[in-house]
Amino acid sequence: MEKEKVDTGRRKRSFENATTSHASGSSKKKKRRRKAKFSDNRTEASPSLEGGRNSKRRKKDQRQDDVPSNEKLGRSLCKTKGTTFLDKMRSRLQGGHFRMINEKLYTCCGDEALQFFKKDPSLFDVYHSGYQEQMSRWPQQPVNIIIKWIKNHSPSFVVADFGCGDARIAKSVKNNVFSIDLVSSDPSVIACDMSKTPLSTSSVDVAVFCLSLMGVNYPSYLQEAPRVLKKCGWLLIAEVRSRFDPNNGGADPVIFSKAVQQLGFTSVSEDFSNKMFVLFFFKKKEQQSKERKGIEWPELKACIYKRR
Ligand SMILES: C[S@@+](CC[C@H](N)C(=O)[O-])C[C@H]1O[C@@H](n2cnc3c(N)ncnc32)[C@H](O)[C@@H]1O
Repeated sequence: MEKEKVDTGRRKRSFENATTSHASGSSKKKKRRRKAKFSDNRTEASPSLEGGRNSKRRKKDQRQDDVPSNEKLGRSLCKTKGTTFLDKMRSRLQGGHFRMINEKLYTCCGDEALQFFKKDPSLFDVYHSGYQEQMSRWPQQPVNIIIKWIKNHSPSFVVADFGCGDARIAKSVKNNVFSIDLVSSDPSVIACDMSKTPLSTSSVDVAVFCLSLMGVNYPSYLQEAPRVLKKCGWLLIAEVRSRFDPNNGGADPVIFSKAVQQLGFTSVSEDFSNKMFVLFFFKKKEQQSKERKGIEWPELKACIYKRR
């Protein structure tokens, strides 16, 4: 019972609440306390189980008195509410693996991330199942807002989805979509580092970066946008809100927007109405200045989970 509570609490920690800190002494103490509580529950009846249910349990225990205690312990660990102990351990391991890959992607540059997945492409699936689990807790997903935006514009718009993940945009709209990611999870996805895509110059109408400015060299990803976009093409950026919270170590959205404008864009609108993410809408200027050096890009903090 108590174990369930602990797990639920943990699960509530969301992508948005991810921080840069590592396991602290106090979290280790908490872990030890949790462990102690867990083992107490196995040996003593918890107060909430007193009464009728408890007497049933005593009878069951009596029937099992001839079973060696370790085996009893194993059985009680094996099934909780239809979930086996092994299932739980597996999901914990996957969660740990997801956090490790997530941290890697937020703390290295695109080239390195590409090599990382080249060595073991199966890690991409591990990352994405963890990512989908996190996103399922968001009341609204930015990718769906972008899909709606595309559907409300011309179906003839050619779209480039930078860091497409499971290529949901391509699967949801009628438009021609170039889906780009580090690993090609689907034959339609172009596998590359998005700072160097094979897309032709001035070939797309909409460039989308949905939660994909992960690498420490994120400005080089955005620099691909003015190259591949046609004149007056759209640049849509969705990012985790905490990355743009200057009161909490995040970037100043004004400085970020100014930097993007210096790349040759006009800011059309910004949407800070969602608690989890922010949206920026830019349009490529008709006249491009060639001078793009010296742009001051703010650092975008990594969305890293506390280690358990
Ligand atoms: C957080 S996921 C978001 C996926 C998708 N855009 C969505 O909103 O569901 C970010 C994606 O960007 C990809 N990504 C990160 N850095 C990249 C890079 N340098 N080149 C290509 N893809 C990259 C990751 O592999 C991951 O699939």
